[in-house]
Amino acid sequence: MKLHIVDHPLIRHKLALLRDEKRSMPEFKKLLHEIGLLMAFDVTQDLETEETVVKTPVAVARADKLVQQPVLVTILRAGIGMLNPFMEILPNARVGFLGMNRDEETLQPHSYYNKIPMQALDNKVLLIDPMLATGGSALNALDFLAEKGVTDVTFICLVAAPEGVEAIHARYPNVDIYTAALDEKLNEKGYIVPGLGDAGDRIFGTGDDENL
Ligand code: PRP
Ligand code: URA
Repeated sequence: MKLHIVDHPLIRHKLALLRDEKRSMPEFKKLLHEIGLLMAFDVTQDLETEETVVKTPVAVARADKLVQQPVLVTILRAGIGMLNPFMEILPNARVGFLGMNRDEETLQPHSYYNKIPMQALDNKVLLIDPMLATGGSALNALDFLAEKGVTDVTFICLVAAPEGVEAIHARYPNVDIYTAALDEKLNEKGYIVPGLGDAGDRIFGTGDDENL
């Protein structure tokens, strides 16, 4: 099973703060950004480097640089909140967007937009969405990328439900999944339990929560 739970005291602490229903919108966004930065350290540990030389003010140093920066692809909208820390840490990474939202009744994703850089074909792709619930949105994104010929995809989320992890592994057994937490289950409305509620609403202030 290619499931990686990125376990670190700082991530656990910040996730505890972020899950809290009392967290304000700016605090939620900041915590998501910080956890994304911390997760990026683990997610990128296999990136290839090559030896180069740089001239410091003192001497010439042998120094490693990344051979290639991965392509980042995010699932709109909530993905934006977790894309930003990866764009910050990988400033040369090209970025693609897949727009979709879940139908509240059927829980099926409805696609409304896509734009992916062609470099995704021969680079590692980091597919980013904070929530992996039924897995419908992630599978829709993985199907789209596979149809385009993209072969090397890693899925990154903040909170995953077992149902979503199993759905990805059933169709894409070679896709690595990185998450900060594997939660208990889904409820009857397809929300992750205990989860954090609707990530998009909490990032962008579109919910009816009076703490926003
Ligand atoms: C959320 C989330 C995922 C999806 C996960 O997006 O960001 O994309 O739900 O659920 P699933 O695994 O059951 O597909 P949502 O559809 O609510 O859209 P939004 O980001 O625009 O709020
Ligand atoms: N999408 C969310 O934003 N939250 C959930 O719990 C499930 C799907």
